[in-house]
Amino acid sequence: MGKFVEMDHPLIQHKLTMIRNKNVGTKDFRALVDEIAMLMTYEASRDLQLEDVVVETPVATTTKKQLAGKKLAVVPILRAGLGMVDGIVQLIPAAKIGHIGMYRDEQTLEPVEYFIKLPEDIDQRDVLLVDPMLATGGSAKDAILALKKRGAKHIKLITLVSAPEGVEAVQQAHPDVDIYTGSLDEKLNEHGYIVPGLGDAGDRLFGTM
Ligand code: URA
Repeated sequence: MGKFVEMDHPLIQHKLTMIRNKNVGTKDFRALVDEIAMLMTYEASRDLQLEDVVVETPVATTTKKQLAGKKLAVVPILRAGLGMVDGIVQLIPAAKIGHIGMYRDEQTLEPVEYFIKLPEDIDQRDVLLVDPMLATGGSAKDAILALKKRGAKHIKLITLVSAPEGVEAVQQAHPDVDIYTGSLDEKLNEHGYIVPGLGDAGDRLFGTM
């Protein structure tokens, strides 16, 4: 089974609590999501491979560590995942960015795939798949399948808030995928929203309430 990590860093918890507040407006919501995504990337990148490199300081020649040649791709699930990309890319500027477009059919709550564009060498990259809300897990499961079909092998799913139902669904369908989340919340309600959650992440990011 892949890792499930609920990130307990105080800064992540604090900022997450701020964006749960329904009175936080679009500008602050967006800025906070950026910051949280960056902090989560810091935690989720702990196991990146390092290699030795010789470096000449002004004082001596020494052998130290640098990131090994392993390449990364960040793949937001549209549209809410877009809100997490800038924060991640600030930490990993060389990452390539793919996009997976899916929406939830509001009647059936099933995901519908409408757009996919990925780096050509996705099969050689570690993938950070990002979506703020892991609700039923439907979109995440489908997005992971779409990535695997195109050769992706190492996938980490990064979400701000997760429902137990979504975590279980992803773990069952894709036991090889690691899940990093800011908070494992209580449950889904009858409308497919995470409780207590933070509402519709896409609407709050883009001001389309
Ligand atoms: N998507 C959201 O944006 N919020 C939820 O609570 C569930 C799915």
